[in-house]
Amino acid sequence: MIYEIYPRSFQDSNGDGVGDLNGITSRLDYLRDLGIDAIWITPIYPSPLVDFGYDVADYTAIDPLYGTMADFDRLVSEAKKRNIRVIMDFVPNHSSEQHPWFKESRSSRTNPKRDWYIWRDGKGPGEPPNNWQSWFGHSAWQFDPATNQYYYHHFYKEQPDLNWRNPEVRKAMYDAMRFWFKRGVAGFRIDAVSRLFEDPDLHDDPIVPGRNAYGDPNILHKYTDNLPDVHEVLREMRRVADEFPGSRILISEADEPNISELTKMYGKNDEVQLPMDFQIADVNKLSAPDFRRLLDEVENNPAGGQPHYFFSNHDQPRQWDRYGDGVHNAQIAKLMAALLLTPRATPLMYYGEEIGMRTTPPARKEDVQDPIGKIGWPEEKGRDGERTPMQWDKTKNSGFSSAERTWLPMPPSAAEYNVESESRDPNSILSFYKKVLALRITEPALQHGSYVAVDRDNPFVLSFLRKNGGKGNSILVVLNMSGAPQTIKFDLASQGIKESSAKPLIAAPRLGPDAAVLAHFTIPAFGVFIGAVH
Ligand code: NOJ
Repeated sequence: MIYEIYPRSFQDSNGDGVGDLNGITSRLDYLRDLGIDAIWITPIYPSPLVDFGYDVADYTAIDPLYGTMADFDRLVSEAKKRNIRVIMDFVPNHSSEQHPWFKESRSSRTNPKRDWYIWRDGKGPGEPPNNWQSWFGHSAWQFDPATNQYYYHHFYKEQPDLNWRNPEVRKAMYDAMRFWFKRGVAGFRIDAVSRLFEDPDLHDDPIVPGRNAYGDPNILHKYTDNLPDVHEVLREMRRVADEFPGSRILISEADEPNISELTKMYGKNDEVQLPMDFQIADVNKLSAPDFRRLLDEVENNPAGGQPHYFFSNHDQPRQWDRYGDGVHNAQIAKLMAALLLTPRATPLMYYGEEIGMRTTPPARKEDVQDPIGKIGWPEEKGRDGERTPMQWDKTKNSGFSSAERTWLPMPPSAAEYNVESESRDPNSILSFYKKVLALRITEPALQHGSYVAVDRDNPFVLSFLRKNGGKGNSILVVLNMSGAPQTIKFDLASQGIKESSAKPLIAAPRLGPDAAVLAHFTIPAFGVFIGAVH
């Protein structure tokens, strides 16, 4: 289980209203008790913070806002004592425009670093080289008057794309990875990896009907996304990771359009071990058939790779709001927890998910921090809503910070949904996460068992077995994705299950006395059942 930390929002230790490394270290016992194996920390490198750290100005240093290199080393060693591995974010597609490499590159057409970025002539006066659009709105080309050329930026104009066709760029970036591996990091979540290459012939992207939230014509990013060259780089990155002992890990962030593209990220077990599965994350409705189909697809991926599921992160509204029905949200939060934690996968969860944090977008344009919210307001309010500070307790700023003002305001729901209150309530969302995470340790079938979907035609209830081939329990998971109770006639004999009932291990809400009889299994509205079967 990997736990994503957005460091600005986890714990502030020095009262400046922004979270930091010592804050994370001070909360490691909480993370250990929660039962996680690794933390992924989003970028903490020096940065002008245009994209809150995804604009890196130095790949081998720590931004003073978050602490020092000594603080970082202490975090890694304290985490290790608690069996928690630390995964860094790596941002290879682009640097900050403030990176010394870019400053050199833009200084003249003949600078040795000119070719470290993507520079092209415009089509004519005031006309960019082609129609490519930034993911964050408007043209992906920025004119630089100093040298009278345009540079390419897939994201903000302050994030110029590095030129991955240049071997010096590759070497510098791989050396940056080595720098952190040597400091004991377990691996990297690699940002925007499918965007590393662009068509060298600059073909225009195809335009499709409609306009996006920024008012631009919709286009397909055909010539700037998922070019085959990406895989060569992933193989090289994997070789770098494999230079170090202790199974170092690479995670790819790439919003792959289908299972065959996702599968390519594994390579022949020589690219990334864990491609983030955006298809599962993007289902956005409680649909047993949709989840069943996607779990099946990933389960049977021809690369035989380990699935990597998540629902929430710092770029998309929290799952509470996307899957909740507004009435049963707390129960649905438990349902989503079980869906994340019980299939065969390495799950990835986002801080605060375990207490039912919700998306709290800014109410006024002048409060927006995330630039895409400024560009796209009001249709696109940006990503502040899912980045609000962690809700620890009922004290000032919910225990996140002693500052007068935190960088984003504390959501009102913090009064009810916080770690302290939920720790005391055995039926809270937090207690539920802890129970399921603990069960993953005591029931080896949940970690290593095969995944077999059962009752496959049920439109409302997703059910599957985690089959333990050797000794020990197999586990039956039943997830009712509808707002009505459902009764199921399980026939598990063909799966080698001989007993007529399942033994409940975790059920929310609690089941009636006969409910776990397999021939007429009754599961309440949005109910979760995890039981042992033999
Ligand atoms: C994906 C990151 O998760 C997001 O926060 C960032 O804005 C873009 N990549 C650009 O780096």
